[in-house]
Amino acid sequence: MIKRCLFPAAGYGTRFLPATKAMPKEMLPVMAKPLIQYGVEEAVEAGMEIMAIITGRGKRAIEDHFDISYELEHQIKGTSKEYLLDDIRALINRCTFTYTRQIEMKGLGDAIYKGRVLIGDEPFAVLLADDLCHNEGGEGVLAQMAKVYAKYRCSIVAVQEVPDDQVHKYGIVSGKAIGEDLFMVDEMVEKPSPEEAPSNLAIIGRYILTPDIFDLIEKTEPGKGGEIQITDALMAQAKEGMVMAYKFKGRRFDCGSIDGFVEATNYFYELAKGGG
Ligand code: G1P
Repeated sequence: MIKRCLFPAAGYGTRFLPATKAMPKEMLPVMAKPLIQYGVEEAVEAGMEIMAIITGRGKRAIEDHFDISYELEHQIKGTSKEYLLDDIRALINRCTFTYTRQIEMKGLGDAIYKGRVLIGDEPFAVLLADDLCHNEGGEGVLAQMAKVYAKYRCSIVAVQEVPDDQVHKYGIVSGKAIGEDLFMVDEMVEKPSPEEAPSNLAIIGRYILTPDIFDLIEKTEPGKGGEIQITDALMAQAKEGMVMAYKFKGRRFDCGSIDGFVEATNYFYELAKGGG
């Protein structure tokens, strides 16, 4: 039902300098796979085929990653290492990759707005590749959210409970519980102080958005940090109609931070060793 997934990938990745000086942060590998490839695999598992990537200066490696390297193919053909390209080849065959650049860093809302030309007038997913999610033995987060969308046909944000001293790092939502893991959003604040936070339900980097969000972003004034925040546009959407928050199943690693990145590496290493 949802065919397109948008990947905002224009950010500088300053927390990973100097590694990200000449390399996109989305290409940092956990084990041997770049973060953005985990994201694309999650979108494919959820039935999506068109990957719309918002890039910026210095991000060309992402485009090259999702393309054939003839020289490499030639070198590796028939060797014992050829299988290492199997997964990425399969993704390239199955998906269409489209790109546009965000010229200035004006916030996540602005980055998503830049994707309008790649999305058109359909519901779509948004995946922030540095939030790496894994649901061992079950469906990925986007696949879970696509099911919620099929039922409610409205924008949905993925949420997770965080400790009070962490709320200032996230968009925080509160709402009316509709089930064990679903809320109808009535408040949404970008990076509040613990006193301002309406709850401790934090948005993590997975969204399903209905296309009317683009007009709402257009009307959104710069918010926290002087940036156009998707959280503010979603709050406007919640007031007009309905936005859901979904408490997903699985783990999430904040691979935008060194701690989360190392945790993810250990987790996937143990999983691979255990044959998982
Ligand atoms: C963005 C969003 C925030 C959300 C977070 C999830 O913030 O603005 O609402 O909670 O992603 O990772 P960023 O981490 O880009 O500052």
